[in-house]
Amino acid sequence: MTMDRGAWEDRWSQALREHGDRIATMPPNAMLRGVATELRPARALDAGCGHGAETLWLAARGWTVTAVDFAAAALAHARSTAETLGTDIADRVEWVEADLTTWTPRPEYYDLVACLYLHVAGSVPETVQRLATGVAPGGTLLLVGHRPIDPATGATTPAAGQVQVSVDEAVAALDASRWTFDIAEDRPRAAAGTGVDAVICARRRR
Ligand SMILES: C[S@@+](CC[C@H](N)C(=O)[O-])C[C@H]1O[C@@H](n2cnc3c(N)ncnc32)[C@H](O)[C@@H]1O
Repeated sequence: MTMDRGAWEDRWSQALREHGDRIATMPPNAMLRGVATELRPARALDAGCGHGAETLWLAARGWTVTAVDFAAAALAHARSTAETLGTDIADRVEWVEADLTTWTPRPEYYDLVACLYLHVAGSVPETVQRLATGVAPGGTLLLVGHRPIDPATGATTPAAGQVQVSVDEAVAALDASRWTFDIAEDRPRAAAGTGVDAVICARRRR
């Protein structure tokens, strides 16, 4: 199942209309927090930023963030949340409306490139490689994908039919002579029945 820009726009518009307050207070992703807490704040890319929880968490900790999504409704919501947090935080974020099927980061520019739960419309290896070009030497690439099938049981998950990053594809897409893998594993989600996340955290060798 692929979701195009219009489908995401509709999904975000409906979700924000019905649960805008709840979305504004959703906590940032725990894996992103775990990885970024170990890093010195610098320049980050949040690819597929959605409502902006991770972007705003990073900006509040001193990161300068480029936040990319193709859903204008999500970006507008994220931008207005940022403004309520004050100029210190809001000024550290550049919100970019763009399609990550083709959008290419500035080469070797970011100390952290995070891409969480992006539904990939094109090829997973090509998407991983293109996002990885944005990582500066010594920088970190964090990819998380919701697995459509639970590898332990073979059962479908709530992500059934979606194409997201997998550990095998991400590891194969990245040149092992240039990347060190700190994490490359499937992790069951904390809430029972919600499936398994593929988590890849790679550091670019200097
Ligand atoms: C499942 S949400 C994840 C949002 C956020 N990263 C998180 O972890 O909560 C996927 C996001 O990717 C965006 N997205 C999907 N395909 C995209 C594309 N081709 N280009 C840009 N954004 C895209 C959607 O609009 C949505 O905000």
